[in-house]
Amino acid sequence: MKNISLNIDKVTGFVTKEQIVAFKPQVEAAQKALEEGTLPGNDFLGWLHLPSSITKEFINELKSAADTLRQHCEVVVVAGIGGSYLGARAVIEALSNNFAALLESNGPRIVFAGHNISEDYLSELTAYLKGKKFGVINISKSGTTTETALAFRLLKKQCEEQWGKEMASKVIVAITDAVKGAARVTADKEGYKSFIIPDNVGGRFSVLTPVGLLPIAVAGYDIEALVNGALQMEKDCSPAVPFEENIAAVYAATRNALYASGKKIEILVNYQPKLHFTSEWWKQLYGESEGKDQKGIFPASVDFSTDLHSMGQWIQEGERTIFETVLSVETTNSSLLVPSDEENLDGLNFLAGKHVDEVNKMAELGTQLAHVDGGVPNIRISIPVLNEYYIGQLIYFFEIACGISGYVLGVNPFNQPGVEAYKKNMFALLDKPGYEEESKAIRARL
Ligand code: PA5
Repeated sequence: MKNISLNIDKVTGFVTKEQIVAFKPQVEAAQKALEEGTLPGNDFLGWLHLPSSITKEFINELKSAADTLRQHCEVVVVAGIGGSYLGARAVIEALSNNFAALLESNGPRIVFAGHNISEDYLSELTAYLKGKKFGVINISKSGTTTETALAFRLLKKQCEEQWGKEMASKVIVAITDAVKGAARVTADKEGYKSFIIPDNVGGRFSVLTPVGLLPIAVAGYDIEALVNGALQMEKDCSPAVPFEENIAAVYAATRNALYASGKKIEILVNYQPKLHFTSEWWKQLYGESEGKDQKGIFPASVDFSTDLHSMGQWIQEGERTIFETVLSVETTNSSLLVPSDEENLDGLNFLAGKHVDEVNKMAELGTQLAHVDGGVPNIRISIPVLNEYYIGQLIYFFEIACGISGYVLGVNPFNQPGVEAYKKNMFALLDKPGYEEESKAIRARL
């Protein structure tokens, strides 16, 4: 069976093969440090061998909890933010029909909340859920994240009002810490089914825990195939695999070589709208892992060909500090030919009889050549087809490459000290108990 693959041919006009291979010792040292847990962040390496440690029994437990929600609910709200939300959304959107919301589906519609504090968003969600049989998956490792806790407070109340307290407790599932945090306290008190986020798995590396797997199973996708795909990459990107054959090692070395040569921004490109949230997940994974100590490649993303009509100019001719990593899907899941038209008023008969995907592929190839000509190095990751197995491969590939890349860069890829700064100010401004000093200090600055 084919695997996802990496092509760096269109990078070597910008950095040489030797410049990339020069990172081999650092990449190998980073992989050894990950395996042996010898560098800072070693208390957050639980994701490293997750695929090979997930048991059939655990998959079945997740499927059974998913079945309960699928059986009773027409809508399931997944409440979470950052690492407690993006992985599930990325996978569900990558696998779903683009117009799923308009189609009759054989399972609940999945909607997301707890990832913003917009009054409009929450009121509109409340209105949408009115009278509907809905369930909630409340996901928060800390159990205290404001965005998620606030949404959950509203959802819990509405769920209890619409279902009654007893039934509500059957359609609310918590995914949180084993002992700490308000989400755990509530789940235990109300008797919700709950799953644990392992202590040693950080949010952005948690998609292969119940954080991602339960919502994906509720959406009706095959989580076993997803884990099997990840497992294939766990084997193929292990330290035992020689550098040249290890796509995660080569990707980590290539992006570090590009960064050292002045390419400070990596743009993840897709040509399939359903991969939009894969890019959002990837941006958090790399941004939160590498952007620290005044260092790090800035992760950006575009959806092509759509954004060729908005960002294309910048990419072609703007400051030459960027490189692109393209997610290229080899085969589509559907088949649609461009029809012939007798009048040919639009002049498109030269495309008649071709698959729409062939047109898309030529846009992709033409863009790659134009951007390389314009001074933008181009990495390509080929995905045979969008299904659970290959998305599982992609997830693990990006995770392991991120761990390696961060250590090569010289940062701790597994912490996120910078995300606390806004929270402290927000709590001070909202007069949260315990923030009296900060409150005085911040008000003096206004
Ligand atoms: O990756 C991370 O650590 C963050 O994005 C968290 O997942 C996010 O802030 C949500 O945190 P929590 O799961 O504690 O609510």
